[in-house]
Amino acid sequence: MCNNKIDLRVLPKEEISNIDLNCVDLDAPAPEYEPQRQYYFISKLRSIVKSESEKAGHPLTFFVQTFGCQMNARDSEKLRGVLELAGYASGDSEDADLVVYNTCTVRENANLKVYGRLGYLGSMKKKNPNKKIALCGCMMQEPDVVEKIKKSYHFVDLIFGTHNIFKFAELLVTALESERMVIDLWKDTDQIVEELPAERTYSFKSGVNIMFGCNNFCSYCIVPYVRGRERSRRPEDIISEIKSLVQDGVKEVMLLGQNVNSYGKNLDTPVTFAQLLRQIEQIEGLERIRFMTSHPKDLSDELIEVMKHSDKICRHLHLPLQSGSSRILKQMNRKYTKEQYLELAAKLRREIPDLSLTTDIIVGFPGETEEDFQETLDVVRRVRYDSAFTFIYSRRTGTPAAAMKDQIPEEIVKDRFQRLLTLVQDISQEMSARVQGQTLPVLVESLNEHDPALVTGRLSNNLLVHFPGTEDLIGQTVYVYLKECKGFYYIGELRK
Ligand code: SAH
Ligand code: SF4
Ligand code: F3S
Repeated sequence: MCNNKIDLRVLPKEEISNIDLNCVDLDAPAPEYEPQRQYYFISKLRSIVKSESEKAGHPLTFFVQTFGCQMNARDSEKLRGVLELAGYASGDSEDADLVVYNTCTVRENANLKVYGRLGYLGSMKKKNPNKKIALCGCMMQEPDVVEKIKKSYHFVDLIFGTHNIFKFAELLVTALESERMVIDLWKDTDQIVEELPAERTYSFKSGVNIMFGCNNFCSYCIVPYVRGRERSRRPEDIISEIKSLVQDGVKEVMLLGQNVNSYGKNLDTPVTFAQLLRQIEQIEGLERIRFMTSHPKDLSDELIEVMKHSDKICRHLHLPLQSGSSRILKQMNRKYTKEQYLELAAKLRREIPDLSLTTDIIVGFPGETEEDFQETLDVVRRVRYDSAFTFIYSRRTGTPAAAMKDQIPEEIVKDRFQRLLTLVQDISQEMSARVQGQTLPVLVESLNEHDPALVTGRLSNNLLVHFPGTEDLIGQTVYVYLKECKGFYYIGELRK
């Protein structure tokens, strides 16, 4: 029991994560400041969840589904953090009492998936009217989408967006207390709320946001419209988050941003990404540092230098090409030419020979000719990517490319896509075999999905290795002999 009720309005921010949430004074008004305000609502949510669980005769469960990129996945961990703290039990399917879809809208497929699954959720809710459904993420930042949901999926209880995700606890309380669909969407924000909970998927690795939003406006891309302007977190906040993650058992961090190479430019005291990396490297106990994504136009020599001399920064760089044609790159507003990209890739290969270089490529951008496409194949042959994500261009309403003339017919795009995929995969198999016969450190991630006698781990260069081992190895870094390359992964043997 609580001897003293805590009035969160007067509690310093630093103490917030240590308090007993059962002791928050809910008769006091909600604090105006963050993150205290959200802890107040988490506490309120706790009392609702407790009484609803008693009524239902079972602990209320939640299910959060991620539809998008790693940033979207990290946001889902924050949603789960709030729900766990509020006393919900974790469910493993859409049968749960509360279902949250964290959506993505980067390509049309992502949207179609959500609509398909929503239909199914609607039929489940008919059988269980107490079920609650919340939608958030990038797709919700599009007004047309929200109109459609209001019209055709009226059973949804809560809609919010990317800019106010920190208000999840407060919005969920409002939705649970209301009979109507609650919608809260912000156009943009300059706010970054620190110190909120997150529930990690893996105990030994974690994503860490270093910046939000994007200012690049590549002409095909919807991200700047749904994620807002670029905002960097302060280095001291990032460092202190990583330090506490490390204390909690994390060995590997993935620094997240749409364009990490422009990190820190708009801070009060500007800091470069390379300088931030140098600081993060100093954190004792942290073993591996990864980051995503690098825009080629902003990749500095300073960064190459830091990577080259680092024991902790992984031997992997994701450097999206998008197209190999300088003409198309200009139309895409990528701000580099084929030659500049090739020069950068050559420099990286020269300076860090064991670096794995991966990329994203779009085929079928408006106006792309066979000659343009050949330029893309040419870059792929010259850079020899260790792996590449290939995408069919998807027309996104509101982006400049959607209004461009000369959208490419589907048949042509599919043919190009197939040819690109074959080339990318052939090269990727050859590149993956580069380290065969070596013995390298592997961070073990899980039991093998198909064979429980094996465990699966990751090399610094991001390739997966399966080898005989037991569950207790999970989260440990061990040396593994890379016996056989099977295309895109290795079969290995543990070395002492
Ligand atoms: N900020 C990152 C990527 C974000 S989106 C970057 O700049 O690299 C991830 C990838 O999706 C992009 O690299 C691009 O290849 C692809 N993509 C984005 N918009 C797309 C569209 N309209 N159609 C097809 N692919 C797209
Ligand atoms: Fe989209 Fe370009 Fe920003 Fe990446 S850098 S998120 S592709 S606009
Ligand atoms: Fe990521 Fe999709 Fe949004 S790729 S930033 S979740 S549109």
